[in-house]
Amino acid sequence: MLSTLFTACAALLGAAAAAPAYHDGHIQTVFEFPNNSFVENLAVRSNGEILVTVLTSRELVLVDPRRPGHSVLVHNFTEARGLTGIAEYEPDVFAVIAGDYHFKTTNWGAGTWTLWNVDLRGVKVHDGSLVPPPKVSKIKQVPESQLFDGMSLLSKKDKTLLIADTKAGVIYRVNAKTGDYQVVINSTYASPLQTPHGVNGLHVRGDTLYFTNSGQFTMVKVPIHEDGTPAGPFTIAARPQRPLEVYDDFTLDCDGNMFIATGAANTIVEISPDGKRQDVLAGSLNSTDVAESTAATFGRGPFDKDVLYVTTAGGSAVPVNGDIIIPGKLLAIKTNSKGSC
Ligand SMILES: *[C@@H]1O[C@H](CO)[C@@H](O)[C@H](O)[C@H]1NC(C)=O
Ligand SMILES: *[C@@H]1O[C@H](CO)[C@@H](O)[C@H](O)[C@H]1NC(C)=O
Ligand SMILES: *[C@@H]1O[C@H](CO)[C@@H](O)[C@H](O)[C@H]1NC(C)=O
Ligand SMILES: *[C@@H]1O[C@H](CO)[C@@H](O)[C@H](O)[C@H]1NC(C)=O
Repeated sequence: MLSTLFTACAALLGAAAAAPAYHDGHIQTVFEFPNNSFVENLAVRSNGEILVTVLTSRELVLVDPRRPGHSVLVHNFTEARGLTGIAEYEPDVFAVIAGDYHFKTTNWGAGTWTLWNVDLRGVKVHDGSLVPPPKVSKIKQVPESQLFDGMSLLSKKDKTLLIADTKAGVIYRVNAKTGDYQVVINSTYASPLQTPHGVNGLHVRGDTLYFTNSGQFTMVKVPIHEDGTPAGPFTIAARPQRPLEVYDDFTLDCDGNMFIATGAANTIVEISPDGKRQDVLAGSLNSTDVAESTAATFGRGPFDKDVLYVTTAGGSAVPVNGDIIIPGKLLAIKTNSKGSC
């Protein structure tokens, strides 16, 4: 168990360290990927296991935070080169985005971005593999796609998802059962303007859609209808306050606090619901502790509801201090939060 891990760590340091190791912002490596892995996004199963996508790999992997250092291959998307967003749309059934993305080139796989279905119902880890093998099927390839990135569940009832096309600067609604899709948000708040990236991470909470715009350096909020279209004005909920902060993906806790991955700033920032209080939860600009964070989400088990799981790219796109690249990771960061609702 993760708490055991933290406790063991605290015991080791116990004699020398005055402060307990298990404190707010304490960071633990759950899994380390190979060097130059742009670890991109994550989703947690109801049993506490974590699904991780990597932009520079075809492989969807599963990591159990109670067994750090081990991973299990869920599926190899051989038709693609990279994976981005992932979201659960019915219990233990996940939608995953894959595309022919060429890292560090201008070929971002336009037209190849595809939504897949990964059904993990009844699937368990046994001797390093999944039994029975998960059912994986294609939902839809979107020919108009430029670069599909973040994804969120929109409606459990309708089995719809929202997907950010970061290059086109629009948000799609896709039906996971039928594959029907449509642009539901096409606004300057989502657009890339002068940069190659616009809307990036996005999450629906109640009838509000939150999304980051990496190119415009904003966290945006908008009330939405059940079909994902705007139901009111867009407002800016937060803007970066420190050097090199680029808002990537994020999560919200039960109290509405935002936990945002800041990419090249090498931190996770925690922002109050009104946007006024902005604290660095973990990492710092010149440290590799949270090297190039990309996404964050809370644990779902009784042992890790207050633990924020964070994916990092290790500086593979923007090296720490300009020249340090470390392996991409899945990190566990202790918080004072109640976790997600
Ligand atoms: C996944 O597929 C790619 C391309 O076919 C291959 O190079 C890679 O070794 C495969 N990974 C695994 C774990 O089988
Ligand atoms: C977004 O709106 C603009 C301006 O109306 C339009 O030119 C563009 O085609 C729209 N984009 C998409 C993907 O629908
Ligand atoms: C900290 O990192 C920034 C960004 O890479 C770099 O410009 C700066 O020189 C670094 N500072 C130190 C003291 O290494
Ligand atoms: C990762 O890549 C960096 C930059 O190329 C290199 O300095 C470092 O030694 C590599 N680390 C590992 C573990 O291979």
